[in-house]
Amino acid sequence: MIFADLFILMFWIRKLGVLMLDTVENNYQTISVKRFAPNLGAEISGVDLSKDITDKQFEEILRAFHDHQVLFFKDQKEIAPEMQVIFGKRFGKLHAHPAAPTMKGHPEVFEIHATKDSKIANGEFWHSDVSCDETPPLGTMLQIHILPSCGGDTMFSNMYSAFDTLSEPIKNLLSGMTATHESEHIYKGRYSDRGKSDADIDCPMAIHPVVRTHPETGKKALFVNRTFTTKINELSAHESESILEMLFQHAEHIDHQIRFRWSLNDMAFWDNRCCMHRAIWDYWPEERKGRRVTILGDRPR
Ligand code: SIN
Repeated sequence: MIFADLFILMFWIRKLGVLMLDTVENNYQTISVKRFAPNLGAEISGVDLSKDITDKQFEEILRAFHDHQVLFFKDQKEIAPEMQVIFGKRFGKLHAHPAAPTMKGHPEVFEIHATKDSKIANGEFWHSDVSCDETPPLGTMLQIHILPSCGGDTMFSNMYSAFDTLSEPIKNLLSGMTATHESEHIYKGRYSDRGKSDADIDCPMAIHPVVRTHPETGKKALFVNRTFTTKINELSAHESESILEMLFQHAEHIDHQIRFRWSLNDMAFWDNRCCMHRAIWDYWPEERKGRRVTILGDRPR
């Protein structure tokens, strides 16, 4: 009898342990959502993005996007550019990049491409996409079709947790402050090897709050990045430089990060309002190529 009770007890302890370790979320019916890491991201399976999706699938993808900030769609076929545009438009109007060359015949698609002849690879420093725009993209979806034999990972950082983990005095200091986001130092000459001269590009500049409130989740996120943010407007040059550097280092801390290792045709979809990302160019002279569509966001508040 004692053995039988012990056996039952051990069975339930083990089951509870498995349930606690389970990263698959069970409140989705049309897609499968598995947490990528405790602090950020989810892997999505059970949906084929090369075809049109159902309204219910869209609803669940949007919910997962707001809950996890970056989604990794696994086991995908190559998505035709026009299908990626249709999928992108489900989330809102598309955003036009002010400087990057677009894919021939598909003005909404930006090709991410690095080869042995490239002078730059996109996204090599931490940033939130095109934060220099008055209305930066709310989200970016990138599918990778050519991968190097190893490397080419992308890192993401959770800007809600970057904000939450600041001390109260620093949160109070930043409240109501604004920062300037510029792009001339990034975009000038950047795409000259891809047929875009400086005369063909825009180099926008915008002023945004240092801490923004996500329009869908209502959560606060730190909104500065070392690619585009050049100063905090209410501070002296010296103060701004020091405080920005502290905020950059804080937001780039490993505690807020994940690192995604791509498989062929994975598609990542990240929320620029509450994450930053950085693409690692460690695979030269090998090639990496993908297609990116961005969705227009609202003015950060
Ligand atoms: C980017 O959009 O910043 C590039 C991301 C990547 O290539 O992984």
